Amino acid sequence: MKRLTVNNKEAYDILFAGDFGGLGNEFNSEYKDKKIMLIFDSNTEIYKDAVSKELSDVFGEVHTFTFTAGEKNKNLDTVMDIYEAAIKAHFERKDLFAACGGGVCGDMTGFAAATYLRGIKFIQIPTTLLAMCDSSVGGKTGVDFRAYKNMVGAFHQPSLVYMNMKTLLSLPDREYLSGMGEVVKYGYIYDSSMLDIIKDNFSAIKHKDERILSELIYRSCDIKRIIVEQDPTEKGVRAILNFGHTIGHAIEKLMNFKLLHGECVSLGMVAAGRISVNRGLISEDDLTDMKKILQALDLPVSLKGADANEILAVTKNDKKMEKGKVKFILLDSVGKAVIDHTVSDEELLSGIREVLND
Ligand code: GLY
Repeated sequence: MKRLTVNNKEAYDILFAGDFGGLGNEFNSEYKDKKIMLIFDSNTEIYKDAVSKELSDVFGEVHTFTFTAGEKNKNLDTVMDIYEAAIKAHFERKDLFAACGGGVCGDMTGFAAATYLRGIKFIQIPTTLLAMCDSSVGGKTGVDFRAYKNMVGAFHQPSLVYMNMKTLLSLPDREYLSGMGEVVKYGYIYDSSMLDIIKDNFSAIKHKDERILSELIYRSCDIKRIIVEQDPTEKGVRAILNFGHTIGHAIEKLMNFKLLHGECVSLGMVAAGRISVNRGLISEDDLTDMKKILQALDLPVSLKGADANEILAVTKNDKKMEKGKVKFILLDSVGKAVIDHTVSDEELLSGIREVLND
């Protein structure tokens, strides 16, 4: 089983497994007098028995909690339900939570763990491609607040990330492929050789070939590891991980979450790509190539029924603003991102119009 170690203040391992069988081995006898709360959503509840079985010998007590899947439940109400379940089961500061699901589950469980009794440990058991290659690593936790995505949160590093690649097999194709948006992102911001692997393996990727997926997820996590080790709390370089997310988040919100996160990141990358072309940083051919890669993975590169000025207004309302300027991620070249604070409204509009085909 492959393993990476993230060397933040408290180091933790990322395990790349093909089943849940090795999970229990990650906990020594000290855990025998601790409890763990396994938190599922209504889609990932199917793993309840398998995960509970692996942990029941190593933990003193295994409890479970399930919430209804979906971004609309990623809020403080669900977090309060988690607190209540933990209080009723007498969870103390030495006990743990475990997020068994996708990005919503991981972010919310992490936030509940960061705040319950002023902070308890938690582990990530990501079951979607997006969670495996991005959100389960790096300790960003949080919930949406009213109309504001991820507005309330905390940095709280997991103690372990354990992924069972087989969980990807039961994901609906659209949800699975939307996670590829994040994988493509790593190719553009950090390592263009990942794009070559993707281009050579479109069919294998679409068929969820375990070998190619393990390779891409491992490489994505390794890039994320390198970045979050340098900058765990996004004071600097970590912001490059937001490539495609600034305009992407605005579209996600305006479309009322009808588009999946990775689909919006795909649109956001095309928009950021256009701004990078206009600045002479990458070529028109590079942008065409980006669109071809995304389309080959069934990811959207254009959007109908949205208004450019509305997307601009929501983009500028995003929390990624510094001194009134949008902190924007551009491509310096294919495989290298830069953080820029000078992108004008006109430039943002040119990027937005690229996806609206105006
Ligand atoms: N998902 C971006 C980050 O973890 O910084």
